[in-house]
Amino acid sequence: MNELDEQLRRRLTFAIISHPDSGKTTITEKLLLFGGAIHIAGAVKSGKTTRASVSDFMAMEKERGISISTSVMGFEYAGRKINILDTPGHADFSEDTYRGLSAVDSALLVIDSVKGVEERTRKLCEVCRMRHTPIATFMNKLDREGKDPIELLDETERELAIGVRPVTWPIGQGKSFKGVYDLVQKRLLLFFPGEVQRPSDIVTIRDLSDPLLEQKVGESLAAKLRDDVDLLSGVYPPFDAAEYLAGKATPVFFGSAINNFGIRELLDAMASLAPAPTPKHSEERVVQPGEDKFSGFVFKIHANMNPKHRDRVAFLRVCSGIFERNKTYYHVRSGKPFRTANPTAFMAQDSEIVNQAWPGDIVGIHDTGTFKIGDTVTEGESINFKGIPSFAPQIFRYIVNADPLKEKQYHKGLDQLAEEGVVQIFSKPHQPNVRVLGVVGQLQLEVLQYRMEHEYGAKCAYRPIDLSIAHWIASDDAKALKEFIDEHSRRVLVDIRGTNIFMSESSWQFERIKSNNSAIRFYSTSEMVEDRDP
Ligand code: G4P
Repeated sequence: MNELDEQLRRRLTFAIISHPDSGKTTITEKLLLFGGAIHIAGAVKSGKTTRASVSDFMAMEKERGISISTSVMGFEYAGRKINILDTPGHADFSEDTYRGLSAVDSALLVIDSVKGVEERTRKLCEVCRMRHTPIATFMNKLDREGKDPIELLDETERELAIGVRPVTWPIGQGKSFKGVYDLVQKRLLLFFPGEVQRPSDIVTIRDLSDPLLEQKVGESLAAKLRDDVDLLSGVYPPFDAAEYLAGKATPVFFGSAINNFGIRELLDAMASLAPAPTPKHSEERVVQPGEDKFSGFVFKIHANMNPKHRDRVAFLRVCSGIFERNKTYYHVRSGKPFRTANPTAFMAQDSEIVNQAWPGDIVGIHDTGTFKIGDTVTEGESINFKGIPSFAPQIFRYIVNADPLKEKQYHKGLDQLAEEGVVQIFSKPHQPNVRVLGVVGQLQLEVLQYRMEHEYGAKCAYRPIDLSIAHWIASDDAKALKEFIDEHSRRVLVDIRGTNIFMSESSWQFERIKSNNSAIRFYSTSEMVEDRDP
């Protein structure tokens, strides 16, 4: 096996996705503890603010910005090099999360067993489904009285449109939580609140009629476990790795992150099951990770937020070949050569300069304005990776310069922050000075104003717009598209890549216009193929 193949086999890059408060930060931290990457709890910064004020958010981002290594956490475990991608906790920045999902090969879904499937979980899983991303599921907080586990499985299967395959099964819940039964390895993992699992807490019970079960968990819970397992085996097919890798079924684990319970089993399962770097689609062809030539794409740009050094870090996912420090590569969008002396790798709490990075790795590149989100870098081939779409924003505003003396700063700030993905910016065809902002949440509007003022010395103001629903449009019939745009010119905007967007005032109006214009295709993401080919 050559070194590239060997490194590929070892790599495992995944994101943790969840609705806020499900326990993502706690789990990330416990995974790092078990992986030996950190030694004390409290080292991982939560991505959430309790109060959604702009100064709280900026303070938190600053902290995260300085220690950007928390965005990607790499560590070695069970013979694999694991990269966990952190995704923003705040719902207003969900687009950043969706983009992060383009840079991983699988996802770990965390569900709060008290609350069940929540709104953001649904959206994130939809994005995973579009890309057939394998998902493993952890039902958290079993130490609390939550929903019935069968109900949780049902809800997950129904709401996330994915087959569920329980791998462990809880015994009791809340105050009576005794642990889980590992359905695959036929062993009992016993729970003692607040303690890290010891090897003696694991009891092998091959046959559930073994009276040892009563001794360990008591009569009524033993009886319930037997009934549950009978029921499960009738309803759910056994776990099948191929179904998981195809994104069709998810293995489900139960536990309690805060109590360190069930996390080691989860990590062991991820290390043995989760896919190594997968092929990535470009507009031109499918790129295999084992190809000799390097290729990769930028999925995130993070400003350091230090006004004295306005440099940014571009996060590049290596898709194929070997990325080498100081080697000259090709920046496809500009057609220019690109070279970096200080690529950074992320290892849990630290970042360090790397000489080489392999497919599945994320490299941080100091950027002075070369990169935009979605840019491809290669050894010379002109390909463009897909999978980094913009999603239709939900809030729109006209944006205007509020300080005429700072015109230059205003445009520079707006362009750079749009490139960073803080907001989406649209313009009117033939009226480039009329700019419309699109965001997912109100907080983004405040963050933009704050950063324009503090980082660029510019002031911006917002004006209302009566259009609120956006669809990217295309047609095989160029004449029909032009006529449509002319007829609806008041409602058509152009994004930073020059693609047309049709805006409507209501879903009723949108449906009416759509049904009257069958030659036009309407998409809810900028990557237009995805709606047609889920
Ligand atoms: P997030 O990143 O998904 O937003 O969630 P986070 O880990 O911050 O966890 C959200 C809350 O849930 C935290 O409590 C955390 O302690 C708690 N939690 C996580 N795992 C478990 C679990 O297994 N059982 C129980 N009972 N709680 C759990 P908090 O009160 O918001 O914060 P803190 O004061 O404890 O830090």
